[in-house]
Amino acid sequence: MLLYLHIPFCDSKCHYCSFNSYVEKFHLKERYMQALHTQLKENLDRFGIQPYSIESLFIGGGTPSTIPAEYYAPLLQTLQPYLCADAEMTAEANPNSATYSWLSNMQQLGMNRISFGVQSFHHEKLKRLGRAHSRDDALRALTEASELGFKHLSLDLIYATAFDTPTLLEADLAQAFALNIDHISAYALSIEEGTVFQQYPEVAKEQLEQTQWLFRTIEQHGFKQYEISNFGTYVSRHNLGYWKYRPYLGIGAGAVGRIANQRYYPHRDIDAYIQTPCFSTTETLCEHEMKREQIFLGLRSIVGLSEHLLSMSELQRAQLLVNENRLVNNDGIFYNNNYLLSDEIALFIED
Ligand SMILES: C[S@@+](CC[C@H](N)C(=O)[O-])C[C@H]1O[C@@H](n2cnc3c(N)ncnc32)[C@H](O)[C@@H]1O
Ligand code: SF4
Repeated sequence: MLLYLHIPFCDSKCHYCSFNSYVEKFHLKERYMQALHTQLKENLDRFGIQPYSIESLFIGGGTPSTIPAEYYAPLLQTLQPYLCADAEMTAEANPNSATYSWLSNMQQLGMNRISFGVQSFHHEKLKRLGRAHSRDDALRALTEASELGFKHLSLDLIYATAFDTPTLLEADLAQAFALNIDHISAYALSIEEGTVFQQYPEVAKEQLEQTQWLFRTIEQHGFKQYEISNFGTYVSRHNLGYWKYRPYLGIGAGAVGRIANQRYYPHRDIDAYIQTPCFSTTETLCEHEMKREQIFLGLRSIVGLSEHLLSMSELQRAQLLVNENRLVNNDGIFYNNNYLLSDEIALFIED
């Protein structure tokens, strides 16, 4: 079982981001954390979660580092009996708010992995993306996290922007690899509704050759690509769990959970969530939808696609792709070695 906790607060809104987060509701932090705790306890109970069965906790956002570490303590105490001994425990953090004491206190609470939203180390690119931190903030936060001895450190980068040049991306990667990290998430900029960039769609500029160069360069540093946007000497259990279609609890405003064929959505609006944290709407997924999701997730990651999932006609089409060297079949699982083609391949295979 995976567990996701959502923190919907940010110091400022980045120009590209449509995640559920608020910059003007900091006065609700304490009540929000109490509501999270209420939903957590209710969900553990409602879904009959067994002791030691949670293999990964991911605190994401928004910006988890905008919340003082002590506000997480009661939730982690409740969770303690449910966590596997070697659970992966990740918190996302922004360099400007991940202070030494925040990092240290989160580590004391059991977090063993920090995923930093760095996006770039280039001053002008950070400004254009609307980031609230500088290159030096990022270097400080990552260095301090490393000194504290976190087991796993990751950073997010954004590429495929109109501000990118080969020199800029090369410098970003060189700087990233000079740090003590074992994981990089590299996301191509996408233009989302309701963001500043929606008015400037030309800032998203994906160039296939540049993307291929980026992937190659990250891999040359020994970080294996295990999903279209994820690379590491360490494979995140949480990420892999999503792509393996493992069930997950979704706690928080705008979070999503899925247990078997039930996908549930707590309130997205923070005020409504605080009022009724245990409320959720539920969508029942049919077999066809679940299969479709597994095909898409498997083909964009090292998880692959099991033969057992496919109909005769789908198997035949998958076999055609094996003959064309687009897929590899290993022990009854089809693996895709070019994740950039994963959606096209999935659409081709599906009935
Ligand atoms: C949930 S967000 C938040 C993490 C954290 N608050 C931060 O900004 O550092 C996780 C990552 O998604 C990526 N992201 C968000 N919106 C994106 C977009 N429109 N295009 C590409 N990447 C995006 C960013 O790299 C970001 O670090
Ligand atoms: S990218 Fe991160 S910091 Fe920026 S608005 Fe989105 S969640 Fe907040």
